[in-house]
Amino acid sequence: MESLIIKGGTRLKGEVPISGAKNAVLPIMAGALLTREKCVIHNVPVLRDVGTMCRILESLGAKVERDGNTVTIRADKVTGVGDYDLIRQMRGSICILGPLLARLGKAKVSLPGGCVIGVRPIDLHLKGMRALGARIRTSGGYVHVSAPRLRGAEMFLGGRSGPTVLGTINIVMAAALADGVTVIDSAACEPEVIDVCTFLSAMGAKIEGAGSPTLRITGVKRLHGATHTVIPDRIEAATYAIAAAATNGEVTLTHCRPAHLQAVIDKMREAGVKVESRGNRLTVKRGGKLKPVDVTTQPYSGFPTDVQAQMMALMVQTQGISIITERIFEARFAHVPELGRLGADIAIEGPSAIVKGGHPLSGAPVMASDLRASAALVIAGLCASGKTQINRIYHLDRGYENIDEKLRNLGAEVERIDVKGP
Ligand code: EPZ
Repeated sequence: MESLIIKGGTRLKGEVPISGAKNAVLPIMAGALLTREKCVIHNVPVLRDVGTMCRILESLGAKVERDGNTVTIRADKVTGVGDYDLIRQMRGSICILGPLLARLGKAKVSLPGGCVIGVRPIDLHLKGMRALGARIRTSGGYVHVSAPRLRGAEMFLGGRSGPTVLGTINIVMAAALADGVTVIDSAACEPEVIDVCTFLSAMGAKIEGAGSPTLRITGVKRLHGATHTVIPDRIEAATYAIAAAATNGEVTLTHCRPAHLQAVIDKMREAGVKVESRGNRLTVKRGGKLKPVDVTTQPYSGFPTDVQAQMMALMVQTQGISIITERIFEARFAHVPELGRLGADIAIEGPSAIVKGGHPLSGAPVMASDLRASAALVIAGLCASGKTQINRIYHLDRGYENIDEKLRNLGAEVERIDVKGP
């Protein structure tokens, strides 16, 4: 088991390149199952989850080659049964369901795993597939879907907490090869959904409205191979931007898309952080004393749930009270007790965390519980006095390419060590 040792107190300074978006690349790789032809995907981050997706595709019969940040997939022959243990490892694996159903007329896939941040059902994915004419049953931890022929349909995909990102993507991928027209109402508008639609369009899919709440997909008979470059990871970018502000540093993010970060930039400016964007670069520096801000997570283009934990780490550094409300996932506060170990004063009341910021933090051993909670602990560790040891960092490696190296390049004192498990 690996841990990260952070010696806090250094201001981050310099430039950090932003990698390709994890949450775009995983469904894009699954989308390659829709064709027998070769798909070449560039700007793929080297992440644990990408490795898992490669192994899932291989277990389905696809040929996958990785060369640095490029992945080539040829799904010449595929089977419709996904490996139970691989699929259980991450939520993103659910998006093989739509392509397999469309390509083979049936699929058997285990219920997906992923970060422990709430119930995370897949009822909306299944609702959409049912609307396209699929029969669905679950048994032995597997979902079985089948439809000799998918037929376009009109459907509403909004749920309790708004649209579903992977659910929208799954249905778009299934509908791409269905007979006739599919209209998805309350579709997710996240940039990752747009990126998947761009890739599918390059494969020959007919999709209108990507990035809006109404998507219209006209099914085609077949899709062909395509080459695609994945968008920059807006969540990784937000994490480094917040780390820069929290450490009172000055950091320029390169290869990023500031337009995808408007809600985060807006909140950071409200908190007194100076943020300047120029082309694909974003420079962040602390302008003076930080001010507390209230944050509520929302579907895109609102403040992302995937940046809630990191923003909380910033508010822990800020004198005064801020209220951070989580509206997407009901159990996404695993970072709160761990931030408490470092000296943060945070109380949870229902969906809100009340942060009394400004207490000095001091390093301690803490446990990474999920991907973004781990990122919040890294930010807090960078600000704490003394040494913070973050255990179970495989969560970080699921979503942050070379995080220790990138932080070291910004001047942070960070070391990865091997720890013997119990
Ligand atoms: C994606 O998960 C991301 N994961 C998550 O990233 C991200 O937090 C989330 O979107 C929201 O932005 C990947 O792309 C791999 P949802 P997804 O379906 O698609 C409810 C990270 O840290 N819901 O948009 O699985 C659900 O419970 C992570 O990178 C249903 O009720 O999320 C939640 O309340 C973790 N029924 C809300 O919708 C369903 O069938 C939004 O979830 C599906 C979802």
